[in-house]
Amino acid sequence: MRAGCFGSSCDLVWLFVTASPASVTEHEIQSLSAEIESLKNPQTLSPTPRLDELREENAKLKYRLNILKRSLQEDDTDCSKSMMNINQRLQEVFGEAIRASCPELDNPPLAVTPNQQAKFGDYQCNSAMAMAQMLKAKGIKVNPREIAEKIIQNLSDNELIEKTEIAGPGFINIHLKRTFVSKLLSNLLINGVQPPPLASRKKVVVDFSSPNIAKEMHVGHLRSTIIGDSMCRLFEFLGYDVLRLNHVGDWGTQFGMLIAHLQDKFPDYLTISPPIRDLQAFYKESKKRFDEEEDFKKRAYQCVVKLQSKEPDFIKGWNLICDVSRREFQKVYNCLDIQIIERGESYYQDKMTEVVKEFEEKGLVEIDEGRKIVFVPGQPIPLTIVKSDGGYTYDTSDLAALRQRIFDEKADIIIYVTDSGQGTHFQVVFAAAQLIGWYNPQVTRVEHAGFGVVLGEDKKKFKTRSGDTVRLMDLLDEGLKRSMDKLKDKERDKVLTPEELTKAQSSVAFGCIKYADLSHNRINDYVFSFDKMLDDRGNTAAYLLYAFTRIRSIARLANIAEATLRKAAETTEVILDHEKEWKLGKCILRFPEILQKILDDLLLHTLCDYLYELATTFTEFYDSCYCVEKDRQTGEVVKVNMWRMLLCEATAAIMAKGFDILGITPVQRM
Ligand code: ARG
Repeated sequence: MRAGCFGSSCDLVWLFVTASPASVTEHEIQSLSAEIESLKNPQTLSPTPRLDELREENAKLKYRLNILKRSLQEDDTDCSKSMMNINQRLQEVFGEAIRASCPELDNPPLAVTPNQQAKFGDYQCNSAMAMAQMLKAKGIKVNPREIAEKIIQNLSDNELIEKTEIAGPGFINIHLKRTFVSKLLSNLLINGVQPPPLASRKKVVVDFSSPNIAKEMHVGHLRSTIIGDSMCRLFEFLGYDVLRLNHVGDWGTQFGMLIAHLQDKFPDYLTISPPIRDLQAFYKESKKRFDEEEDFKKRAYQCVVKLQSKEPDFIKGWNLICDVSRREFQKVYNCLDIQIIERGESYYQDKMTEVVKEFEEKGLVEIDEGRKIVFVPGQPIPLTIVKSDGGYTYDTSDLAALRQRIFDEKADIIIYVTDSGQGTHFQVVFAAAQLIGWYNPQVTRVEHAGFGVVLGEDKKKFKTRSGDTVRLMDLLDEGLKRSMDKLKDKERDKVLTPEELTKAQSSVAFGCIKYADLSHNRINDYVFSFDKMLDDRGNTAAYLLYAFTRIRSIARLANIAEATLRKAAETTEVILDHEKEWKLGKCILRFPEILQKILDDLLLHTLCDYLYELATTFTEFYDSCYCVEKDRQTGEVVKVNMWRMLLCEATAAIMAKGFDILGITPVQRM
């Protein structure tokens, strides 16, 4: 950094600062501050008409100083270890140039995207055309190519662009510096896959899985579990403080009939645990009685009231029932390696009372046939917050939960992962919360991440052959069986140890089930097919897991020790001269850009698509670039192209992190 101050004999004083943030020192900041202070000092300046001008200049410099101070702080947190988001950096550089080229436009469009075809450069900026359109609307006619030229002229000196060229109607093709890309790859190898620096540690609540007690967890809950877990993993990797919540349905009217039935069937349930092995059947029995026996129905209602007023005997019965369900859910979570905290609807009982009071006090409640309802302007349906029998509803518990998450958890981001069918429910709940002033969507991000239904291969709702809903544990067991069949088909049982084989079995089975779900745009319905997900060709976990073990085995088969690779990362330059090396290197470095996109739209299939692209790009590279050269006769290693081994390592590191975010466990050998 250079900072200087020169004044002419008159009172015009200029302070100039040219700095790259990384090179600013504390000392330099201090001397700059001192200079600014002296400028403010009336003794150093005689009052003249230019004083105002200088004051204004001074204010600008102070602002600049603050920016420098901030970047100095960021340097202290050692963001050099984190992976750079190249696209974002290009957007910064181009954004500045675009604004400078077109001061007439308040909000000039900024479009920088990676290029698929190498001949058009590595990235492309397409803003000039849109800017020409915007100018035209203002009555200014400019050729987009001219705008593109201006943008290029205004590009500041930077570390990453080698050259730019204008193509077609006004595209700007951007070529990255090879040395720069190579340096980023070395950083990645030395520091590992590090998330981009976080400005502040934000808190995220993810409400996912959330099955209902006493009912079977169905495939919809499986989707929520898989998608929600992966979102949590992404936020966790990026350094957010994540609260994973299981908003189980544990407080509805069904508990009245369940407890009433329990009282009849197992009168001594207070002292011994009843063997409700099949809670589903138990639920069906009690439902039947509820529908057919008038007395039972009455008693069931009384039971709900007693439960909700927390009478100990009723709480005991309720707990027993919840425990049976919980154990079932836990089996699924164990298989899929899901961490989640149970905080069901019952948790909000007292808070629901407060919520109703608050809505009433603010005059937002209307009475409709004995129910208390809330109309939210612009919303299609009202919320029912108290039923005519005095009970609370799904609306009430979600309002209470949202309020608790905003005020007690102090969440910055709250995400609900359920089927899209609940879209309207959440839309109205969020609107009501804004109406009553609980949050401002500009500050707190509250979002429903909906997903489509699971279909069978016949494209109809996913059911067993006999038409029943599919039990999740049966589904997972079938996955295990099928994955073992597949491994045996490939005669892997002859190569792997029994322990390796079972590891590969569950890695493939659960990895495939998760990946099949995550690799489809969650908004769409998706067809559940074991055959497709276990196919090791195409965009499947089976393919990626194989590709990954193959990459990992390259170094092992060439007898290159891990320590050697680690050392090489620090001493060997990653050469990117071959077209396929260059393509792979750039693909590896797009990881942060992919994660950023998912952070914005919560669509995880982008990560799957990217990992698939990375694996195929790797194959292209491996097919045309020798990593290890062997003697044809003896098979002995004659030469190791270390920089290429490093490219293998970097690919594997990104894939491993990608799997981690998707909740997939790779294995050493399969
Ligand atoms: N238990 C609900 C169901 O099975 C899902 C709950 C989702 N979370 C929420 N806060 N409403 O449909």
